[in-house]
Amino acid sequence: MSSDSDIKTTPRGFHCTLCNVNLPNMPSLDQHVKGRKHQTLSTVRATRKTQEDHSVFVSGIKPDISQTDLSEYFQQFGTVSDVIMDKDKGVYAIVQFGETESIQAALSCVEHQMKGLKLRVKPREKKDFKLIPKKKNDPQNLQQFLDRIKPELCQLVSVDAQMQFVLERFQLGDNEKKARGLLVQLLQEVFVEFFPDSQILPFGSSVNTFGIHSCDLDLFLDLENTKVFQARAKSTTEQAGEGMSDDGRSEDSILSDIDLSTASPAEVLELVATILKRCVPSVHKVHVVSSARLPVVKFHHRELNLQGDITINNKLAVRNTRFLQLCSGMEDRLRPLVYTIRYWAKQKELAGNPSGAGPLLNNYALTLLIIFFLQNCEPPVLPTVDQLKDMACEEEECVIEGWNCTFPSQPIAVPPSKNTQDLCTLLAGFFSFYAKFDFASSVISLREGRALPITDFLSQNKEDEAMQEEQPTKPHHPRTKLGPLNLLDPFELSHNVAGNLNERSQRSLQRECQEAEKYCRSLQYQRKSTKGKSWGLVRLFTPHGDVPHTKTEQLTISIPFKSASLPEGLRNQLHMAGDDFRLPWFQKVCSAVEGVLKTVLKCHLAPSTNAVFGDDSADAAEEMETSSASLKSSANDSFDSVESQNETSPLGAVVVGAKRSLSSGSDASVSPQGKKPRLARRGRPELPQWVCVQKHIVWAGRRKVRRELIKDTDSRPEGSCMELESQVTAYITEKEPELKDPLEFKVQAQMVGGTESTKVVLRLEPSSDQTGVFHDFFHFLEAFLPKMVETLLQKEVASV
Ligand code: UTP
Repeated sequence: MSSDSDIKTTPRGFHCTLCNVNLPNMPSLDQHVKGRKHQTLSTVRATRKTQEDHSVFVSGIKPDISQTDLSEYFQQFGTVSDVIMDKDKGVYAIVQFGETESIQAALSCVEHQMKGLKLRVKPREKKDFKLIPKKKNDPQNLQQFLDRIKPELCQLVSVDAQMQFVLERFQLGDNEKKARGLLVQLLQEVFVEFFPDSQILPFGSSVNTFGIHSCDLDLFLDLENTKVFQARAKSTTEQAGEGMSDDGRSEDSILSDIDLSTASPAEVLELVATILKRCVPSVHKVHVVSSARLPVVKFHHRELNLQGDITINNKLAVRNTRFLQLCSGMEDRLRPLVYTIRYWAKQKELAGNPSGAGPLLNNYALTLLIIFFLQNCEPPVLPTVDQLKDMACEEEECVIEGWNCTFPSQPIAVPPSKNTQDLCTLLAGFFSFYAKFDFASSVISLREGRALPITDFLSQNKEDEAMQEEQPTKPHHPRTKLGPLNLLDPFELSHNVAGNLNERSQRSLQRECQEAEKYCRSLQYQRKSTKGKSWGLVRLFTPHGDVPHTKTEQLTISIPFKSASLPEGLRNQLHMAGDDFRLPWFQKVCSAVEGVLKTVLKCHLAPSTNAVFGDDSADAAEEMETSSASLKSSANDSFDSVESQNETSPLGAVVVGAKRSLSSGSDASVSPQGKKPRLARRGRPELPQWVCVQKHIVWAGRRKVRRELIKDTDSRPEGSCMELESQVTAYITEKEPELKDPLEFKVQAQMVGGTESTKVVLRLEPSSDQTGVFHDFFHFLEAFLPKMVETLLQKEVASV
């Protein structure tokens, strides 16, 4: 089913043309080909091919021709297994036969006459099977857009200016708003003809001040007044006898078909769909989706190229749209933040479910997350919903479906925020806030402006259940659907607006926030590049695999500072160094890492270059740097781990978050390899680095060899695991064949963290991995390296 022709070799690995994905190496390619997506698409393709090979294309039919008519007619050429008709237009059909021979029979018939129609029968067009990306979230479109705006973004002077630019480029234009307004007006005129006194009200992105060019038109058809009208008309008609209602409407008005007080939402929406199809010009693709949480009629407006959704029973959405409008009115910084974060979330595939349903955040939920963060800034940028309620006057009181939806109608009623942070800082603060947020145990409440303990909801749900059992007839709100991310609607307090998220999407959200937080600490986020390089939002928006400094994969392994497991001698040594203990410890760790690579794993180490990674070496170093100054005042102690400006150890390592300078070490000018480090290009610090070559798969089958070696020598090599491990490697290199293309990789050491969290971070990057084994080797090293380093440090075998 899957064919080799689906896989193309690229400079970066492989590309699967069937699924349109890039795979970095053989193991991931192998995994992909065996995976569900590839297998499903292969099956679908095979099925399509079979269908193509067994069917003919029939045109010249009319809408009144049925599948049965066609099936009966074509039976004369062979068994008909299926007839697929183009229902909307009624102009063509696909007739599928059980045997391929029937196709020839049908095609060789000179004239096809059926029910007075002359049918045209043609072979099926052979189309290449292609995965069509879903349009709304098409990463290619998003990428093209980013490519277009990139030069302009890079020219701007600050992140704040970039955010304003994003807002201007995305927001709905006046003409678009006008066109939407006219369509709403037209729909209102049409619907009121059929549903007297009804109102059609837009909500969502078209009117909530966060709309983008292609956003949907969400509409609420309010039939409350129509129900009253209908009830009144019914009683008048009953009193006056059959015939006309009180406004002279004829009995055969569409309304007489349905009793709104008893009809189901699906029935009403079917009626709405019929009206749309028959009475609104340019509207097509009308269909009812009754399985949604709120059943909806979907349509498309051809001229405006606009997707529309009409719901009934959705008063709360109109009200929460008013709330979002109020928030924008109160706080000018909200819109640029929302547009920026929405675009970031789309690029990272965190938000925007293309078909409406899916496991990602919807835009409403994402906007609420931003508002919640702003409520939690210090001082707050936005008030809580409860505070807003207290600011409203009596006339503004509003209760919908039992939920209190009171807030002031005008922003002027709300005192301005005392928070003066700029957009750049708030954006970084947002990422930092959610990077650390304890999603597992919290329920986010914009109402109270705080995270509520999830345990409150577990018991509340139980209480609800008990109450329902006791009083089954009493109306009750459905219980909150708890999930990996719990975000309560500000008004409908039992509704988790992120209830659709799965574990994976919640984890991706947090991971992306952590990544973004890290990036926001770098100078590349905060400062315009003088060399015209990508900076600020451009790098933040760049999707995975496209970030310049991660052109090739980089993976990290951490070696934490564990004073308790250090040998006494070394502990004393570090104690003597006082607050400057990190430098000698870092040197010992670097020596041990070198020992493990060289002696234990028999990697060939190229002479130390002390050059930093990749082409973007300067960027990599720059990225490590922190300018806490502009961010220190950030909300919520977002950057509390960064307590001082960067400090550069004379060793060449950039120390992130260290409290004191490491420059006082006695052997401060010595590199881990015992060499004086060269001065970095452009005066930048260099990070210690090893360039390694491994010719054998020394990570595979170690346990077995180890067991055998212990048995052979009848005891563990004396005193040290290092010797045993070195023997294991030697055994493997002797017995196993060499790799056809040796694996080449770089390891770079960097010390990070304050007193509590000092650690050495080793960044690994393959420079040549023709055989695709780097990933396996890395996974082995992840566990092996820290253990071995600890052993080496314990034995004080610091210089190997
Ligand atoms: P969306 O998530 O579609 O947001 O919800 P949006 O801002 O309109 O974004 P796009 O451009 O269409 O994707 C639309 C509206 O639906 C209501 C809110 O009023 C929201 O503004 N809604 C959505 C809810 O009331 N509850 C929900 O859980 C989701």
